[in-house]
Amino acid sequence: MTFSPVSVPSSASRSINWGILGTGAIAHRFAADFVHVTDARLVAIGSRSGEKARAFGNRFGIPRQHGSYRELADDPDVHVVYIATPASAHKANIELCLRAGKAVLCEKPLTVNAHEAEEVIDLARRKNLFLMEAMWTRFLPLIVRLRELLAQRVIGEIRHVMADMGSQVMFDSDSRVHSEELGGGALLQKGAYLLSLASMIVGSPTSVKSLSVPGKAGVDEHTGVLLGYSGGCLATLWCSVGVRSGRQGTIVGTQGQIVIHDPIVCPSSLSLRLYDSRRRHYAPLTAEAESRLKARFLRYAKCSRLIRKLRERFRALSDRILYGIRSSTICLPPMGEGLHYQVSEVNRCLRAGKLESDIMSLDESHSIMVTMDRIREQGEKTHAETL
Ligand SMILES: NC(=O)c1ccc[n+]([C@@H]2O[C@H](COP(=O)([O-])OP(=O)(O)OC[C@H]3O[C@@H](n4cnc5c(N)ncnc54)[C@H](OP(=O)(O)O)[C@@H]3O)[C@@H](O)[C@H]2O)c1
Repeated sequence: MTFSPVSVPSSASRSINWGILGTGAIAHRFAADFVHVTDARLVAIGSRSGEKARAFGNRFGIPRQHGSYRELADDPDVHVVYIATPASAHKANIELCLRAGKAVLCEKPLTVNAHEAEEVIDLARRKNLFLMEAMWTRFLPLIVRLRELLAQRVIGEIRHVMADMGSQVMFDSDSRVHSEELGGGALLQKGAYLLSLASMIVGSPTSVKSLSVPGKAGVDEHTGVLLGYSGGCLATLWCSVGVRSGRQGTIVGTQGQIVIHDPIVCPSSLSLRLYDSRRRHYAPLTAEAESRLKARFLRYAKCSRLIRKLRERFRALSDRILYGIRSSTICLPPMGEGLHYQVSEVNRCLRAGKLESDIMSLDESHSIMVTMDRIREQGEKTHAETL
């Protein structure tokens, strides 16, 4: 039975059956988080090796264990396939599953370039089947809250998005992350998250500038990107597979700022700083205000043992007094690793008979791939020794 929107009963009680294609690192994390999914079952695993499928299936209690991707795609008990293979395999894997009538959630980046993305999107639409890029970050509770804050324009007009994501992935000639053939490199592996975040916040850029530093295996080890948007907003993004970075994001608006804390790919908290619109300029302290500020600082200093906390409080206090800035922190940690929220979105869409998600639409995934192509087309590379 296929799970096309036409055949999906709207009954909320009907369980949706999922299969996983590939048994690598992210497939393990996804299967572990599936315990948090209450309206679907993980029923099948497919691997290029029967032995790996059995080991994976036994570990996570998955009954249907297939020794080839085709067997998984053809399994009549599977409605949706989650593709967890290297980026270079995504197009072929998506096509295999769509041709077998399955709905698909495919790991990021959707494909390795915009042309491939167009082809798989076109196939899904022709076949009337659901397809979504597994940009799991978008479905985390904190990012849902972020979208609400931005929709309410709490920080005014957005002028700048800054974000970085760097991890030190040790060089290994077999490593997917450093392999050009498998769709590795900083831009495809880490930049995909940053471009997706910028796209969610400010849409598609009108201009793109970039510079990359190649690593040992030919893929980009670090890439810096400057994006321009109509309306005068800029985004500066930096990604790396050679060095760990702060992994945070800052959204600068005319009336405040939002800082998304480390790790930007799966954040638990953000800080919000709002300016007082009546006080656009620095207000010099009167002697009386200065002594009040000092007295309050000393009071804090006496009673607090946590110097760091004290500094933060003092900064918040002086920001408030001097500039009228109000600071707050919003904490919304995910359950587990947070990979299951995207599953709920797919289930919700399928039950509603939708062919794609409004939160991670296919047109947006395509537009992100177009930006990636433009970054790479510039071909501007600099070598570490010339920096
Ligand atoms: N790791 C992460 O933190 C993470 C996070 C988010 C997204 N992702 C994305 O998820 C995808 C998979 O990442 P991963 O870290 O899970 O990779 P991985 O550990 O290397 O696993 C990839 C799996 O894909 C299958 N595969 C199919 N063709 C392959 C080929 N030519 N070479 C190697 N493996 C092949 C293999 O499963 P079988 O042998 O069972 O067929 C393999 O175990 C990538 O697109 C990545 O961007 C990864």
